[in-house]
Amino acid sequence: FKVPEAINEPVNAYAPGCEKRASLLNKYKEMYNQAPIDVPMYIGGEEVRTDDKRPMNPPHDHKKVLGHFNYGDKSHVEAAIDAALNARLEWSELPWEQRASVFLKAADLIAGPFRNEINAATMLGQSKNLMQTEIDAACELIDFLRFNVKFMTDMYKEQPISSPGMWNRTEYRALEGFIFAITPFNFTAIAGNLCAAPAMMGNVVVWKPAETQVYSAEVIMKVFKAAGLPDGVINMITVDGPTAGDVVFNHKDFSGLHFTGSTGVFRHLWKEIGMNLDKYRTYPRIVGETGGKDFIVAHKSAVPKQVSTAIARGAFEFQGQKCSAASRVYVPNNIWAEVKEDLVAQMSTFKMGSPEDPSNFITAVIDERAFDKIAGYIDFIKEQNDAEIIAGGNYDKSVGYFIEPTVVVTSNPNFRTMEEEIFGPVVTIYVYDAEDFDATLKLVDETSEYALTGSILAQDRYAINKAVVALRNAAGNFYINDKPTGAVVGQQPFGGARGSGTNDKAGAAMNLMRWISARTIKETF
Ligand code: SER
Repeated sequence: FKVPEAINEPVNAYAPGCEKRASLLNKYKEMYNQAPIDVPMYIGGEEVRTDDKRPMNPPHDHKKVLGHFNYGDKSHVEAAIDAALNARLEWSELPWEQRASVFLKAADLIAGPFRNEINAATMLGQSKNLMQTEIDAACELIDFLRFNVKFMTDMYKEQPISSPGMWNRTEYRALEGFIFAITPFNFTAIAGNLCAAPAMMGNVVVWKPAETQVYSAEVIMKVFKAAGLPDGVINMITVDGPTAGDVVFNHKDFSGLHFTGSTGVFRHLWKEIGMNLDKYRTYPRIVGETGGKDFIVAHKSAVPKQVSTAIARGAFEFQGQKCSAASRVYVPNNIWAEVKEDLVAQMSTFKMGSPEDPSNFITAVIDERAFDKIAGYIDFIKEQNDAEIIAGGNYDKSVGYFIEPTVVVTSNPNFRTMEEEIFGPVVTIYVYDAEDFDATLKLVDETSEYALTGSILAQDRYAINKAVVALRNAAGNFYINDKPTGAVVGQQPFGGARGSGTNDKAGAAMNLMRWISARTIKETF
């Protein structure tokens, strides 16, 4: 069979006055004003509710209660694993084209009838502005599903050579057991993909979404159900991390972790899995995308306007809460004055407020914990002598968790916010002597334990090449004359190494391969 050609989902522009914009904003209003909802866990296709109800509040309007989600305990983790294992045999033996159909249909449902719902849920629950939501919850998730189907079928075609009297075959089996997916709040697409990718390859999944993403997580479950995903293949539980981990990582059928989240949690889980290795039937696959301290380095030949735009977009889209967001920047002194002037000018046009108004570029950060952490960094910066805030620096959580996009300039290349991940709208700039480019590249490489994304901006081809070589290991996604965010499925496979993860690129065959365990069959005639 040949699967439908995978092409990137066109991004809706939602231009002012157009029907699509009105219809999405109506959906947002409808969901905002509806009676409080009660989001269940989904175990074996059943909606499971408990007495432990946790509130759901839009981060930009935190006094509003959208409803509740149901918090589970150990028994729900056990039930989800049982449901997954019960579904496993039939699902893993289903011909691949039947599995492909489910996910292609899910992509079409998001592209069509569910587009407004998944977008509005992401805007409301995760405070993403309209365009950032469209490229995440709609386009990127659709692309993950369609492209992964294509990568899966390409992979299955790969077969060893045979000869007369002998037929060699590779059978791409699912892993023996269940996969545990732990997903973050910052991309609805990542949440969907971390479940869908292993499931597509014939695996069954226990999924623990971030508690701050349950609103759109439920829409993902509804889409999978509507697409005909059999019960038990993906089970969604909302249980606290240590409780879930205690059950999952002690289970003999645990066969893989698909994780996106913090470096600290990932390292902890890896150790826990290692400690329990003797209990497992198979070596679990561990795939994780974790932290970042993503950089932009400009060369003296860079176009100043291009540098300021890369900083403004790369650091502040979605309030700097992309794992790929630029958070440390190196600008040569010969162009700094122009970069600074244009950056501040661009930022003065940024409006901040609710995502309900599509002209708001900045909305709230995800929750009070994130707000307090970021505000703490801003307070710290204000007290230092070797750093200065040149834009932003104010915050207010009275209505929503709003933090102004903030630009810090430091004379110290090892200033704390040049090194530590903040995960918010704060970028730190170090202005270097334009003649010290080589030393600066070394600094970029050595300053951070992470290696997720980074950019070089330069017109000089020799400078570009120097950066490409010197920063070979400093970023898994490297951009030339662009911001370091916004990887597109099928175009820039995404992931980083060092402290940033296992670099099993999302949206690529490299990731899908982790979810299969091949059997080689030789038959002689
Ligand atoms: N894929 C996203 C980006 O490139 C980050 O997860 O911005």
